[in-house]
Amino acid sequence: MSEPLGVALVGCGTVGTGVAKILSRHADRLTGRTGGRPIVLRRVIVRDADKPRECEVPPGLIATDHTVATSDPAVHVVVELIGGTTHAKRVVLDAIAAGKHVVTANKALLAAHGTEIFTAARKHGVAVCFEAAVAGGVPIIRTLAESLSANQITAIQGILNGTSNFILTSMAEGGMSYDDALKEAQRLGYAEADPTLDVDGSDAAHKLAVLAQIAFGVTPKPTDIERQGIAGIQAMDIRFADELGYTIKLLAEAWASESGPGPSTVALHVAPVLLRHTDMLAQVRGAYNAILVVGDIVGETLYQGPGAGMMPTASSVVGDLVDLAVGRAQHTFAAAKLWSAPGERPAFQIAPSEKVRSRFYLRLIVKDEPGTLADVCRCLADQEISISSVIQHEAQDGHPEKTVPLVIMTHYSETGQFRTAAAAVGKLTGIVSPPVFFSVDD
Ligand code: NAP
Ligand code: HSE
Repeated sequence: MSEPLGVALVGCGTVGTGVAKILSRHADRLTGRTGGRPIVLRRVIVRDADKPRECEVPPGLIATDHTVATSDPAVHVVVELIGGTTHAKRVVLDAIAAGKHVVTANKALLAAHGTEIFTAARKHGVAVCFEAAVAGGVPIIRTLAESLSANQITAIQGILNGTSNFILTSMAEGGMSYDDALKEAQRLGYAEADPTLDVDGSDAAHKLAVLAQIAFGVTPKPTDIERQGIAGIQAMDIRFADELGYTIKLLAEAWASESGPGPSTVALHVAPVLLRHTDMLAQVRGAYNAILVVGDIVGETLYQGPGAGMMPTASSVVGDLVDLAVGRAQHTFAAAKLWSAPGERPAFQIAPSEKVRSRFYLRLIVKDEPGTLADVCRCLADQEISISSVIQHEAQDGHPEKTVPLVIMTHYSETGQFRTAAAAVGKLTGIVSPPVFFSVDD
């Protein structure tokens, strides 16, 4: 029998528990998949060694100091499942320096410190595998890195955060409140330790940064990815969107464009978007994720599956372990082809989203009095934005001081022009709360 692949789990919470369960329950299956090389858990590092665990870990394996794992010669792979960017970075860099391969599900860490981590991995000749870091159980990293390698990717549109998709689905279909839906997502193990990252678009932006690195060779700084979360979406927006034939989804998008003789550019952003009910991405429910990838040769391709939660995410982590055991991951995740080296000139430049053309949904709370609608239309006309439809229902009892919601759908304009118009609308005296607007994908 071949020498077992020794694994140290650093972090045994939601995802780590799933990994420990798979390694113990499916040991024979995994040995079969590796052609006879067992994958054996050697160490489990946690914050609190006395906490009861859902998975059975022999007490002798548990410790709280990660150097117990990184200095153990029987450990070949360190699986980082702590989360965050401080201690996790230390664990990953220590593991690499000790010559261990790394598997991580930590997109925040890769987005912030990917270049430093892959530089270290190059130096020490180890692989850093991260299939679980984007879209949980959906194998999107291998797809981009290998299966689509004949293509230049021209666009990516993804539902990349399970928690926010779960919240939006629960609000739209179950009439649940935002707060209750978030609590349920936390209970089900979908949310980050700090759920702000899920709902403010940061987690999706971290994942988009990782995908953009592979697809476009760019290393976005946090400010390069504009982000808007789901907190501004009210139940009435979901109702109005539905009335117009649309579903609201939090999308992470990358749009590449050739800019004449200059370098190609890519615009990266995360924001709520109105999608037609019939759009495939509109039908992705709950904690599922989906990614539409457009390649210049293949055309449009779509990948869908569970994007968060214990077992789907652990499935991707263990897939990386199997690939390390047989030597495949060392090629798939070779730093030289997957992550730009410091100072390497990217093929694409990151461009602001101002020039991206879109239709827009604009929802206002307005005073129900003469001239308000005319003033709003003037602000749009000043930016040469044409209105496609308007909804204003009769004022109902309960609307304070004769205010009503006013919804305007526009024809196409540049994002920058629309933002200028929306800022002008926000200053009108007939508008009683800041304008809410989302792009509309037709
Ligand atoms: P979690 O449930 O909060 O678990 C974190 C684990 O890390 C716990 O076992 C904790 O120990 C341990 N830990 C925290 N600080 C530590 C320290 N200083 N030293 C040693 N151990 C420490 O997190 P999770 O949901 O499993 O997420 C882990 C990673 O996977 C994150 O990067 C997350 O973004 C990513 N991810 C999660 C999901 C998901 O659906 N949950 C999906 C994809 C990716 P104790 O148990 O003793 O507290
Ligand atoms: N918190 C993340 C989500 C976990 O909800 O998508 C998966 O990365």
